[in-house]
Amino acid sequence: MRVISVANQKGGVGKTTTAVNLATALAATGKRALIIDFDPQGNASTGFGIPRDKRQPSSYDMLFDASLAATAAQETLVPGLSIVPAVDALAGAEVELVGEENSAGRLKAAIRNLPPVDYVFIDCPPSLSLLTLNALVASDGVLIPLQTEFYAMEGLSQLLKTVEQVRARQNPRLDIEGVVLTMHDKRNRLSDLVAADVRAALGARVFQTMIPRNVRLSEAPSHGIPALLYDMRCPGSEAYMALAREMMGTAAKAA
Ligand SMILES: Nc1ncnc2c1ncn2[C@@H]1O[C@H](COP(=O)(O)OP(=O)(O)OP(=O)(O)O)[C@@H](O)[C@H]1O
Ligand SMILES: [Mg+2]
Repeated sequence: MRVISVANQKGGVGKTTTAVNLATALAATGKRALIIDFDPQGNASTGFGIPRDKRQPSSYDMLFDASLAATAAQETLVPGLSIVPAVDALAGAEVELVGEENSAGRLKAAIRNLPPVDYVFIDCPPSLSLLTLNALVASDGVLIPLQTEFYAMEGLSQLLKTVEQVRARQNPRLDIEGVVLTMHDKRNRLSDLVAADVRAALGARVFQTMIPRNVRLSEAPSHGIPALLYDMRCPGSEAYMALAREMMGTAAKAA
């Protein structure tokens, strides 16, 4: 089982879109995948059409009673893909956990009780909060979506420093799974320049596959289904399938 945090403290860079569609793509190749919606906004849960009154047990409940993880995963409409939904109360977890024992290790403890799958994706909130820290402590790898726009790399060094600290203090196996460039617009010169800059700075850590700006990816969540089901052949869906293949190749090389 490989646990991957999808993290970037910048908002709106494509974390949720990536978690939802990459997990769907992996499930489509026959892998068993699970998404933990770990953002109080609950965008991943909404993206799978889970009504607010059907979000229990949730990722919040799991933090306070690890045994609930055994029953928290709900089936999605994608065969082989399940999700632990998020509720608004998750926003308060941070305050409630202050001073509690092992406050950054709660998610890790809960994940041990999840049903066995091949990939777990943790959809992180846009902050370097105690929630994101819990995700990093629980993970084998961190996948970083970067939007190909002018300020893409701003804040990245802070995220990488946080990963470094977690690795040094709490979780020596934490790896950079890779950086994925999102919302790439090949007609926009700036988008290409930023992509080239990011590759020059981060080299092999950047996935070859880029996710194009594609309106189908932003329409799908309003129908409560992943883009891969909404329009399997749109450029965004094809890109997430390619990313899944690239990721499985990487994993095989690393093993
Ligand atoms: N490749 C893309 N092409 C077009 N629209 C996209 C693409 N990726 C994401 N979007 C849209 O951009 C917005 C932000 O994406 P998303 O919610 O995945 O980002 P996020 O990093 O999870 O945001 P937050 O930080 O708020 O959790 C959403 O409306 C989404 O539908
Ligand atoms: Mg999100």
